[in-house]
Amino acid sequence: MYQADRTRYDQMVYNRVGQSGLKISAIGLGLWNNFGSVDPLENQKAIIHQAFDLGITYFDLANNYGPEPGSAETNFGQIMATDMRPYRDEMVIASKAGYVMWPGPYGNWGSRKSIIASADQSLKRTGLDYFDIFYSHRPDPETPLAETAQALDQLVRDGKTLYVGLSNYNGEQTAAMTAIFDELKTPYIIHQPRYNMFNRQAEGDLFPVLEKTHKAAVGFSSLSQGLLTDKYLHGIAADSRATKQTIPFLGTSQVEQTLTTVQRLNEVAQQRGQSLAQMALAWNLRQPALASVLIGASRPQQVINNVAALDNLDFSADELATIEQILAEQPVIDWSREK
Ligand SMILES: NC(=O)c1ccc[n+]([C@@H]2O[C@H](COP(=O)([O-])OP(=O)(O)OC[C@H]3O[C@@H](n4cnc5c(N)ncnc54)[C@H](OP(=O)(O)O)[C@@H]3O)[C@@H](O)[C@H]2O)c1
Repeated sequence: MYQADRTRYDQMVYNRVGQSGLKISAIGLGLWNNFGSVDPLENQKAIIHQAFDLGITYFDLANNYGPEPGSAETNFGQIMATDMRPYRDEMVIASKAGYVMWPGPYGNWGSRKSIIASADQSLKRTGLDYFDIFYSHRPDPETPLAETAQALDQLVRDGKTLYVGLSNYNGEQTAAMTAIFDELKTPYIIHQPRYNMFNRQAEGDLFPVLEKTHKAAVGFSSLSQGLLTDKYLHGIAADSRATKQTIPFLGTSQVEQTLTTVQRLNEVAQQRGQSLAQMALAWNLRQPALASVLIGASRPQQVINNVAALDNLDFSADELATIEQILAEQPVIDWSREK
């Protein structure tokens, strides 16, 4: 029977989510990949235990995580039932609806019909009584913003989630949703954008809106799916995300396009006494809008390495300028050339 490490709260940093009462771990664990039906359950357990033992309290799911879609929630539910149940009140568990999940017109996007059915399915798969945060995974161009907002609000009123969040909405859409949530008095507290050294769109668009409205962000793909680690410095290993056929979102093309930049960033990290992954996470966390950064992990050791980023979160002006210069010289990455 799993017993959590007694020292788990000693090192982790907990940040308040905007002006809400909720604090989350500065590093959160995402279950997008490596937690599906194609992945060994023992390894999933080991990663979750490792994360929790190091003080990670924030666990990020979505209806479609797998593969098979839904299987990450099912597996997480099984691990909750066998190992983590005594710790439920020490965990912030999030899920989302908005990407395609089941056939027909209702298993996708952001209608009231889709969001509420999807949340019910996610609760069933995870075996949880409620989520701590439930997100609209992406804006729906065909459904009125107010309808999606009201569906999330309803989930709160029905006790299916404590807080709500938005993901992948741009600044303008976020400002409009915030106004609706304010009117409804919905506990909307958090946004989940992509944010890392190679994807900085949120800086000029979303972050100013979050700052103005006193909301926080939790960034996703914080290591650009592994590009911002030492993983690909010496070639492309067979078991890496770039080669896994079950994960189509990162290919060897992106590794090749970024290798020079990654080598240069790695030198800066070494001078700071950090791994590249640690420096990349610390660099993300310099953003005042970010309460937390989500990491993915294919093995427990990656979680250990990444959490140690918290040992050095400070950057000198020179270090920041050097990183800016290196990133400015990175050619635009072609994300359309995947596997
Ligand atoms: N809201 C959204 O639309 C959205 C979209 C994407 C992701 N997310 C969330 O964000 C979470 C994280 O996204 P992500 O998986 O793309 O995160 P990521 O942290 O950018 O990439 C994770 C991958 O990087 C590699 N890695 C991690 N730590 C490493 C280390 N210390 N050394 C070497 N390699 C390391 C591993 O790849 P290998 O498998 O190659 O070992 C791992 O699977 C997801 O799980 C999900 O919860 C949300």
